[in-house]
Amino acid sequence: MSQQNSPRDRQDSAQSGSHTGAESGWPTGSQSGSPTDGGPEVWSVFERFRLTGRTALITGSYRGLGLVLAEGLAQAGARVILNGRNREGLERAADRFTARGYQAGSSCFDIGDEAQVDAALSELEERYGGVDILVNNAGIQRRERLEDVDLATWRRILDTNLTGAFIVARRVAARMIRERRGKIVNICSLASELGRQGIGPYSAAKGGLKMLTRAMCADWAAHNIQVNAIGPGFFLTELTQALADNRDFNAWLTARAPAGRWGEPRELVGALLLLASSAGDYINGHMIMVDGGVHAVM
Ligand SMILES: NC(=O)c1ccc[n+]([C@@H]2O[C@H](COP(=O)([O-])OP(=O)(O)OC[C@H]3O[C@@H](n4cnc5c(N)ncnc54)[C@H](OP(=O)(O)O)[C@@H]3O)[C@@H](O)[C@H]2O)c1
Repeated sequence: MSQQNSPRDRQDSAQSGSHTGAESGWPTGSQSGSPTDGGPEVWSVFERFRLTGRTALITGSYRGLGLVLAEGLAQAGARVILNGRNREGLERAADRFTARGYQAGSSCFDIGDEAQVDAALSELEERYGGVDILVNNAGIQRRERLEDVDLATWRRILDTNLTGAFIVARRVAARMIRERRGKIVNICSLASELGRQGIGPYSAAKGGLKMLTRAMCADWAAHNIQVNAIGPGFFLTELTQALADNRDFNAWLTARAPAGRWGEPRELVGALLLLASSAGDYINGHMIMVDGGVHAVM
């Protein structure tokens, strides 16, 4: 469905801020004007980053990078729904957000369990009228060389990092397609692009997630859904604690990364805001590396 035919379609598009340049609220072509010709349009780029009135679901977000990403979205005005499998941890994190004045809730489900995902999304739709922004962030890691990886471990890592993102996105997209708007951001990795010893299943899953991002763009862009990815480099969380504790790895990373240091989780938020807000309405199927330049140099 690439054309807008009905008045309802046109109204949806105007409200959601997208589909054609003219309907997006941005000045286009000859109507744009410029500071020098005194054109008629008054517009604010900062308004396009605002997420007021949007509901964002961030998977795997009561700790680690997901929690920081959720806080960034909440600061931009979104109602954020935290997720994970630890109900107590989730509720504590949501309470802390509420105490800071953010609009926050929690939804406890395993992203790899289709029935749990379906039940949780139905409840969220009833409570909040649906999810406008999905961040597929939940992920797991296990460090061992491929010859030692048993099939159960391989499947667990693929099930969480790749299939889980598909299960949640497909469920959320069903409603986004009906509403003719939506933002999906998949949290990939440097491992989506580069190989590294001892993380074979993770690399396969994150490489797959990068291509799943493009596949979702191919199938859903015509419904005014933008699907993009962020590729974080190395950030200190529980997932990377073993690396952080390793003196050799620290020396290697600071020498290898042009930035000369680990990333600070808050440094991911700028890219997320671009991809989750109307500011990024014409960006689709892309992966932004946030890695201090590691991927750019040999
Ligand atoms: N940290 C880095 O440097 C880095 C670099 C590149 C990419 N990433 C990616 O960034 C994302 C977040 O990483 P992180 O470092 O913040 O990891 P983390 O601290 O280990 O947090 C991962 C989160 O995912 C949740 N989770 C795992 N399996 C789940 C499932 N089946 N259903 C629901 N939630 C699940 C965990 O909660 P429970 O297990 O308690 O449910 C936890 O909240 C991951 O996708 C990771 O691959 C991280």
